[in-house]
Amino acid sequence: MGDGGRHGSHGEDAPVRVREGTIDDAAAMARLINGVIAEGAPVLLTGSFSNDEERDFLATLSPRGGFHVVEPRAPGAAAAEAAPVIVAAQVFAPYAAGMPVHDHVAVMGTWVDAAWRRRGLGRALWERTAAVARERGFTRVFTDVRADNSASLAFHRTLGFTVAGVARGQAVVEGRAYDVVFIERGL
Ligand SMILES: CC(C)(COP(=O)(O)OP(=O)(O)OC[C@H]1O[C@@H](n2cnc3c(N)ncnc32)[C@H](O)[C@@H]1OP(=O)(O)O)[C@@H](O)C(=O)NCCC(=O)NCCS
Repeated sequence: MGDGGRHGSHGEDAPVRVREGTIDDAAAMARLINGVIAEGAPVLLTGSFSNDEERDFLATLSPRGGFHVVEPRAPGAAAAEAAPVIVAAQVFAPYAAGMPVHDHVAVMGTWVDAAWRRRGLGRALWERTAAVARERGFTRVFTDVRADNSASLAFHRTLGFTVAGVARGQAVVEGRAYDVVFIERGL
């Protein structure tokens, strides 16, 4: 990655591994996402997800969509048998399944554990997502961010996303309305 070495590499010797997610990651995904919601990050999900709910979500993801995860490289052999630990994940899916005019458009969501942010994990996930999404026929990502989520907006801008528009008061969280920014990028 072109980060001047600050983030280290995600190759063979890196302390983390980026890989495609599987249904067996459901519990670890639920833990990651629930943690980000509980921390109060200004995201568009609320509440919490049970392991079964997360499993159902992942199991019903369109076959054109998918997700990648980042796991710390576990020291020692015992870790191979341990339950997966995921510190970051990115999910992508068709924007509007069943509407052929949107077949080339994907939506995307990114989750990085608070303790692992600004280490290039989100960017590493994006590199994987963009490559796989292109292979699956997507040529555009169009997604949404709460307008007060300055970290996410900065992150996506760095990746080359631009703002397509703002929906005023679109997200209502605990009775309060938030603007939602729609962002896009070609692949
Ligand atoms: C937004 C988020 C996914 C970014 O993930 P990350 O792994 O920390 O991002 P990276 O380390 O790959 O950052 C890549 C670049 O994006 C920009 N960036 C990322 N976070 C930023 C922040 N908080 N403020 C300003 N710029 C930021 C920087 O240019 C950064 O490069 P640099 O660290 O070399 O300056 C992460 O903060 C997160 O999970 N937040 C909570 C959940 C969330 O909001 N998800 C997005 C929902 S739309």
